[in-house]
Amino acid sequence: MKVANSVTDFAALRAELDGTGERIVYVPTMGALHAGHRSLIALAKSLGSRVVISIFVNPLQFGPGEDYARYPRPLEEDLEICRLEGVDLVLVPTVAELYPAGRQVTVHAGPMGQLWEGRARPGHFDGVLTVVLKLLHVVRPHIAIFGQKDAQQLACIQRMVLDLNLDVTVLGGSTLREPDGLAMSSRNVFLSAAERVTATALSRSLAQAATQTSVPAARAVASAVLDQVRDDPGFELDYATLVHPTTFVEVSDDYHGDAVFIVAARVGMTRLIDNAPMTFPAPLPVAEPVPV
Ligand code: PAF
Repeated sequence: MKVANSVTDFAALRAELDGTGERIVYVPTMGALHAGHRSLIALAKSLGSRVVISIFVNPLQFGPGEDYARYPRPLEEDLEICRLEGVDLVLVPTVAELYPAGRQVTVHAGPMGQLWEGRARPGHFDGVLTVVLKLLHVVRPHIAIFGQKDAQQLACIQRMVLDLNLDVTVLGGSTLREPDGLAMSSRNVFLSAAERVTATALSRSLAQAATQTSVPAARAVASAVLDQVRDDPGFELDYATLVHPTTFVEVSDDYHGDAVFIVAARVGMTRLIDNAPMTFPAPLPVAEPVPV
């Protein structure tokens, strides 16, 4: 495994692969790798001949007062995981290289980037898209894989790839869960034992919603689960609703088709998000009575 600590070093290693016919699959990360990332790397290995990972805690996607400073950065452990998972190339760029002094240009995520996570974290998706576009230019992969756990991020990235005619296939890797249902996240380390228990309300609400066949029923059962923790002083629900899978616009009660149930809450000091894809089939047409 080769590790490039700068974009310049990475570019030299990447150039060696030009013209070799290798299929490059890329997993961008902010490090603090867990089993969820390992499953994305395993997916990448199954799809390509060279796996590239980047580790970069992107300051541009954190708002003032968010957890940029305390975001976990266990680089040596991360590199060990990459070695064990058979990653070929690791890019660990510096902030100064990705954000040169005097920088002016950023990517604007558009209306979808202002909804839900974008409303709670103004500028977040602009920061994500800006760094992802830069990293895609540097890595030049054939396929890039992002976790479905960050469903709105994935949808924004897919929109950017379409809108900016980027020559890359973007895929989503399934969310991995702890045995208690909590979606794996680098931020789970911030949760106390009691907060961990409260946090399971998010995945339980999704599991309940998934058993329903109509939008109002899914909303109602999810809400009933979340009501169980609503009075907990350490719990503050931000949203729990059903949205269209590509636009993230909230769907109406009579909606039929594919949707995503998205939920976000603050548990203690930690903001958690989770989601589950759902399908609400159109009702079967009522059969005309056959004359006898
Ligand atoms: O999902 C993440 O880890 C980050 O948002 C990403 C895509 C690596 C961009 O910084």
